Amino acid sequence: MNEDGLDPRDWAELRALAHRALDETFDAVAGIRERPPWRPIPPAIRAAIAADPLPRAPADPSEVYGTFLERIAPYAVDNRHPRFFGWVHGAGTPAGIIAALLAAGMNANVGGRDHAAVEVERRVIRWWCEIFGFPETASGILTTGTSMANLIAILVARRKAAERVRSDGLAGEPALMGYTSMDAHASLAGAFDVAGLGKAALRMWPTHPNSELNSHALRTLIAHDRAAGKQPFIIIATAGSASTGSIDNLNELADLAREEGLWFHVDGAFGALVQLAPSLRDRIAGIERADSIAFDLHKWLHVPYDCGAVLIRDGALHEATFADHAPYLQRNTRGTAAGEPWFTDFGPELSRGFRALGVWFTMKTYGLDRFGELIARQCAMAQSLGERIAATPSLELLAPVTLNIVCFRYVPPRPSGEPDEVSERVTDELNARLLIELQERGLAVPSSTRVDGKLALRMNVMNHRTTQADLDEVLAAVLSVGKELELSSA
Ligand SMILES: Cc1ncc(COP(=O)(O)O)c(C=O)c1O
Repeated sequence: MNEDGLDPRDWAELRALAHRALDETFDAVAGIRERPPWRPIPPAIRAAIAADPLPRAPADPSEVYGTFLERIAPYAVDNRHPRFFGWVHGAGTPAGIIAALLAAGMNANVGGRDHAAVEVERRVIRWWCEIFGFPETASGILTTGTSMANLIAILVARRKAAERVRSDGLAGEPALMGYTSMDAHASLAGAFDVAGLGKAALRMWPTHPNSELNSHALRTLIAHDRAAGKQPFIIIATAGSASTGSIDNLNELADLAREEGLWFHVDGAFGALVQLAPSLRDRIAGIERADSIAFDLHKWLHVPYDCGAVLIRDGALHEATFADHAPYLQRNTRGTAAGEPWFTDFGPELSRGFRALGVWFTMKTYGLDRFGELIARQCAMAQSLGERIAATPSLELLAPVTLNIVCFRYVPPRPSGEPDEVSERVTDELNARLLIELQERGLAVPSSTRVDGKLALRMNVMNHRTTQADLDEVLAAVLSVGKELELSSA
């Protein structure tokens, strides 16, 4: 039996490979403009990945790395690219690459115990509490993303509304009801599902294009539910919707939640980060009044995937929602198992990686003021893109540009007498093709959404590498490819 572990006999050789891998990783980022923002995976490569046999025998690390370079690296989405505008993706940073390497090197398990990685996560959480004006008694935890952060917040609110839920479940409890807008992210209804409340228990109020809430209608809905024997327990506001970037009126919702005695949660996946930009901060005024805030650090802070966070105003309730002291997780006042409370007491997971290092490295390397400047610049670029679209006859701006998201479409001339539904269908089809052409030709990667039922090209201007020239190029590409498709289908 070979008594060696998994470390190499020849560190020098592995070290050289690691240096090469790091150099080539930086080269890939530095040369990002030389490649398209996305390219399809060639069928042969896809087939090779799918046919990769179970690796029972070892391979030389340089061979494994060679396969990575051939089959994986070239076929990224690639959200690092300055002309990637899809969904809400962060771009990553060079500092984040270093942090990811160091975190992998430490291989820390931040579920608990007494070590510096835990202290770093605690510090990072306190920084974000300070940013949002949360008190010392607040708590928080880093998560995989805002979907998990929303779930944790909803579980804490559920625990407040149904104190025995952890032992007895929800049987015998009145139906717990939540309220949010139609623009809310699907992860919220998903969290209601996972929490055993049912998706239908999350009522969604309609918003008009400026997303101003009709709080009178919401109050009526809450009263109606109470009269029907249900138990309203949470109002969820969105600060920056995934579809259009719309923002609910947080102060109005905070008032309503207070009057009604309900939990007030803010899903600020990316919008919460405008707190870092003094010129934009007033758009999310009221966020500091939330009982809980969910937001991502892998979006507008560009921390390496995956990393989100949830903050809970009532830290004791947060801990009471998750803490469970199994005998094999005995805490001590001294030794390795000291350092209570542990992060596992604030979420559903026990083992957790050292995500906090990416956040800590990013915040310290660039400084928050720089992120504030970038966020303000990106919102200004999105605003001016929206204005140019609105002023271009063959384009239509489909939603107000609230933050950094621009939703629009190419509008072919309408033959006289063509009925509305035909014209809408033709326009939708053209835009669906236009989107794919832009992506497949490697020109740009917008994504799509629907605004008032219309298919929209959706540009999320978030990448710190994006310049005005990139936006000019994309607009020119939309017009020329749109025209080409219009003529080919005429
Ligand atoms: C408003 C909003 N909430 C929640 C999410 C989900 O976040 P994540 O993908 O980090 O889970 C997103 C993602 O874009 C979002 O925009």
